[in-house]
Amino acid sequence: MVIELPDLAAMDAFGARIAQRLRPGDVVALSGGLGAGKTTLARGIIAALGHAGEVPSPTFTIVETYDPPAVRLPLVHADFYRLERPEEADELGLDDYREGAALLAEWPEHAGGFAGEPGCLAITLESAGSGRRAIVEPGGDWLGRLP
Ligand SMILES: Nc1ncnc2c1ncn2[C@@H]1O[C@H](COP(=O)(O)OP(=O)(O)O)[C@@H](O)[C@H]1O
Ligand SMILES: [Mg+2]
Repeated sequence: MVIELPDLAAMDAFGARIAQRLRPGDVVALSGGLGAGKTTLARGIIAALGHAGEVPSPTFTIVETYDPPAVRLPLVHADFYRLERPEEADELGLDDYREGAALLAEWPEHAGGFAGEPGCLAITLESAGSGRRAIVEPGGDWLGRLP
C-alpha cells in the first residue's frame, strides 16, 4: 500500500489516522534514511494521541515515553539509530518499556526489526518531489484497521 504525503499537513493527517487505530502492543516501524520524515510522522501520531507541546527527537536519549492521561494510551518513541547491535535494544529494557504500550520505532532494523510481529505496521518513507511517499506493510493485526 502506497500513500502520497506531499506536505506536512498530509503527514499530520496520516499520523492522526494511525493514532486513531493504534493499540497497546503495536509497533509502528518507521524506516527510511536521514531526513526521510520518520520523526515528523512520529510527532504527528503523538500529537494526535493527545500530547500537547514539544516532542523531543529521541536521537540521543534513544527512548522517550508518554503516559496517560496526557495521551490516549502508553507510548514509547524510540530511535535505534545509535545502537551498534540489536541486542542493545534488550539491554536498554525495551521489553519492559513496551509492556502495555505502543511503540513508535525509528531505525527499527537497528533493533533487529519488528516485521515478524502481527501488530507491526511497517512504514518506509522516501522522497517524492518536495514531499514524501509512504510504503505501508501491515502485519496481520492491522488488516481490519488500515490507516
Ligand atoms: N511529507 C513531507 N513533506 C515535506 N517535508 C517533510 C515531510 N515530512 C517531513 N518533512 C521535512 O523533512 C525534514 C526531516 O524530517 P525528519 O522527520 O526529522 O526526518 P527523519 O526523522 O527521518 O530523519 C524536516 O525538515 C521535515 O519538516
Ligand atoms: Mg528522526
